[in-house]
Amino acid sequence: MNVQTKTPSHSAYADTAEEAIAAQDALDSTMITSDEATQVAMQNTLLTPRFYTTDFAEMDALDVTPVREDWDALIAEMQSDPNKGHFKKTDKWQADWEGMEPKLKAEFIDFLISSCTAEFSGCVLYKEMKRRGSNSDITTLFQLMARDEARHAGFINDALREAGIRVNLGFLTQQKKYTYFRPKFIYYATYLSEKIGYARYITIYRHLEEHPDKVFHPIFQWFREWCNDEFRHGEAFALLIKTEPKLTETFVNKLWIKFFLTAVYSTMWVRDHQRPVFHEALGVDVTWYGQEVFRKTSEGTRQIFPFVLDIDHARWRPNLDRMELASRQVAAGKARGGIGGTLTRLGGMAKAAYAFIALFTIPAIKNDVPASTVMKPTY
Ligand SMILES: [Fe+2]
Ligand SMILES: [Fe+2]
Repeated sequence: MNVQTKTPSHSAYADTAEEAIAAQDALDSTMITSDEATQVAMQNTLLTPRFYTTDFAEMDALDVTPVREDWDALIAEMQSDPNKGHFKKTDKWQADWEGMEPKLKAEFIDFLISSCTAEFSGCVLYKEMKRRGSNSDITTLFQLMARDEARHAGFINDALREAGIRVNLGFLTQQKKYTYFRPKFIYYATYLSEKIGYARYITIYRHLEEHPDKVFHPIFQWFREWCNDEFRHGEAFALLIKTEPKLTETFVNKLWIKFFLTAVYSTMWVRDHQRPVFHEALGVDVTWYGQEVFRKTSEGTRQIFPFVLDIDHARWRPNLDRMELASRQVAAGKARGGIGGTLTRLGGMAKAAYAFIALFTIPAIKNDVPASTVMKPTY
């Protein structure tokens, strides 16, 4: 059967992920752009966003009956599509790439490519779940989330394109390596990345509201509506997790939750600390920002997780800093190459593992999970 995909003028108006990608590809075919960004997006390291695949049949078998009322309300909200047309440049958009200090430009581009890859990683996973599934509750949700993530990735690509670069979304879908995760790991990892995404976008947005002189690029002014999409995605995963109580109740699964919380938080910390000039330009103290995002994320995850990490514990910050130093050592070893480089790299990896264990073994703070997961965006 031949399915005709109509291509809307811009990904911001697309009703499906496929339309959004087609609209973005159409833009690229009319201009010459560098594919360097695609190469960066193709990288798979511990710190770069990955693409995931999973057991789609198992996910398709989820039954949302226990959370039906909240589920229907959330889907109706997503179907009403409050952000249709939002992810598109307007008169407010005044980007000054030429006037940007080169170091800042490099870090900002790195931030955009990494964000675009992360957004698109969600898109490909959700799109695939929609394609493979037959459970209409599940496919409806994943089609709506794929639509949102494709718009987000498309919009970041619009910003990059002005700097003469872009991430080739179609190429990435086909060529980037996919990492297999069992469905339950997908739930934890994706739920957390949606929650942390919300916290990151809204923290920057609120900060810039107070310091309008620090808005060095217009994309930040789109962050409020943006984070509301991520908030809804997080709500959806909270409901999915709620349908299977064992996901948050067994001893082993609690360890997995703690593992993912520690991994996601420490990865963010390390990655953000690698962009000092970017954060300085925003007037954001990167250490404050990290802790603030963790705090907001932890508040959010109280809706479903039986504990939160103790981010004020005496061992927390020093070991995050150790992780960061260790990751610099790994990078330096890699860059150097040879036997000396390998030894440096292995030493760094051992230090990172040690710091991770020190973080992981900090006693968590117990949380009484409420009967309903429903939350409103309050920040
Ligand atoms: Fe997104
Ligand atoms: Fe999202």
